[in-house]
Amino acid sequence: MELFMKNSSLWGLKFYLFCLFIVLLNINRVFASHNIFLDLQSSSAISVKNVHRTRFHFQPPKHWINDPNAPMYYNGVYHLFYQYNPKGSVWGNIIWAHSVSKDLINWIHLEPAIYPSKKFDKYGTWSGSSTILPNNKPVIIYTGVVDSYNNQVQNYAIPANLSDPFLRKWIKPNNNPLIVPDNSINRTEFRDPTTAWMGQDGLWRILIGSMRKHRGMALLYRSRDFMKWIKAQHPLHSSTNTGNWECPDFFPVSLNSTNGLDVSYRGKNVKYVLKNSLDVARFDYYTIGMYHTKIDRYIPNNNSIDGWKGLRIDYGNFYASKTFYDPSRNRRVIWGWSNESDVLPDDDIKKGWAGIQGIPRQVWLDLSGKQLVQWPIEELETLRKQKVQLNNKKLSKGEMFEVKGISASQADVEVLFSFSSLNKAEQFDPRWADLYAQDVCAIKGSTIQGGLGPFGLATLASKNLEEYTPVFFRVFKAQKNYKILMCSDARRSTMRQNEAMYKPSFAGYVDVDLVDMKKLSLRSLIDHSVVESFGAGGKTCITSRVYPSLAIYDNAHLFVFNNGSETITIETLNAWSMGACKMN
Ligand code: FRU
Repeated sequence: MELFMKNSSLWGLKFYLFCLFIVLLNINRVFASHNIFLDLQSSSAISVKNVHRTRFHFQPPKHWINDPNAPMYYNGVYHLFYQYNPKGSVWGNIIWAHSVSKDLINWIHLEPAIYPSKKFDKYGTWSGSSTILPNNKPVIIYTGVVDSYNNQVQNYAIPANLSDPFLRKWIKPNNNPLIVPDNSINRTEFRDPTTAWMGQDGLWRILIGSMRKHRGMALLYRSRDFMKWIKAQHPLHSSTNTGNWECPDFFPVSLNSTNGLDVSYRGKNVKYVLKNSLDVARFDYYTIGMYHTKIDRYIPNNNSIDGWKGLRIDYGNFYASKTFYDPSRNRRVIWGWSNESDVLPDDDIKKGWAGIQGIPRQVWLDLSGKQLVQWPIEELETLRKQKVQLNNKKLSKGEMFEVKGISASQADVEVLFSFSSLNKAEQFDPRWADLYAQDVCAIKGSTIQGGLGPFGLATLASKNLEEYTPVFFRVFKAQKNYKILMCSDARRSTMRQNEAMYKPSFAGYVDVDLVDMKKLSLRSLIDHSVVESFGAGGKTCITSRVYPSLAIYDNAHLFVFNNGSETITIETLNAWSMGACKMN
């Protein structure tokens, strides 16, 4: 009897723990960098709230989106696939939605291209990339999830009908999966294949994001015929303590031109970029380095920091980015997913949608060779409408003025600031050396009076500044050099009381020499719930997602401000109201 009691209470405890496990599993699981709300995954939007929807940043009509997948240019048409939940506004039920465009700005939404249907992808069709094979045949390699434990394999899909200009239907041949992980690989962290490139030996190569212990890695696979893939002995590159690498992207950049290069380009005067989306940090990091083709290894330059303190594609809401080579304009274009900041799933369920894609950006290597430069593709300018312009306007300490005559909730603004001296730059506190730029921005912000700066734009501002998202510079004098902080500070972006709202003071440093040229430029693309900004011609990019409650539609205002003691001159300011793009 006693024995039975013991056993039964043990059994009870086990049962309790099991139930707890199931409950936790169902309420909020986090894997693959997404919050999981099993009970909400399939609750379809009852209505779609318009107020914070974007008008020129890519969005489907409703529901959840994440990573851009397999962007490509094929026979005159741009294709964008993306991770999409057709059934709800939180992550789940992921399929590949598909849209096409002639200009990367106006889109036609098509039927889904890839969705779970076979043994090799029954539990998920996750991110991947496209490659155009030499006979002009596109192929997609994507990650298939094969069971409820999230074990992953790599599959391929091909267009059903190459003469359909939109490549609407995709086939997943029966010889899938192409790649299954061997025993050395963590099967639940084995995903997001890159575009393939061909080496001098005629072999195709792809990378797959992974991790061993906490070492993030880009596994390298080779193939002669694109069907049989063999894992290389070493990853192309790996780095300790960076956690899982999602969505790796690897491409050559020219040392002396802003033109893009095909991923298989071979020639002199190139460097390589390896970008990884760090699951733990939720930012896209990159290094610049050399690709040693003989040993098939990528080695970052000495001055290119490999890890948490490294360069980011964007210092804000921007993740899982992917580039492609656009032969029609000889450029490389990068797309990134800009996730929501309203952390509670309820908000997204009420909105009926979640996630946008950033504006596609042309990307190239800066003349210094030390970093990338990104700039919105020029086609975006076709949406520019009413324009206001001003020149040579001085802003002394504490001055602020409103840019009137454009719609400030949907605008493109370019400003060039200048100043006559660096003498008033504030001291950079040596204790900040170990902080992230975002933390320094949190300490100094846009309102504490400075020396050279803070100056910049107050975007999505309510009339009396109860709400605004300032995008600005603040220049510091450090021991050896000047440090230029660029911030996009969401802390005062909304009056809405929501404890769970993520309102970070996103920031990055801008690597420019102000000693010779006492000028700084800023461009912000403002689109209702997004402010996407480019400092110093695109050297530092920051995207903020914000949800003003007063500064909406015609009640949004745009100001230029200077809260530093050094007088700032606005050399030129051009601002346009933006039209809406076509998204069906
Ligand atoms: C990145 C990511 C990828 C994965 C996909 C799933 O956001 O987690 O690693 O393939 O999203 O939707």
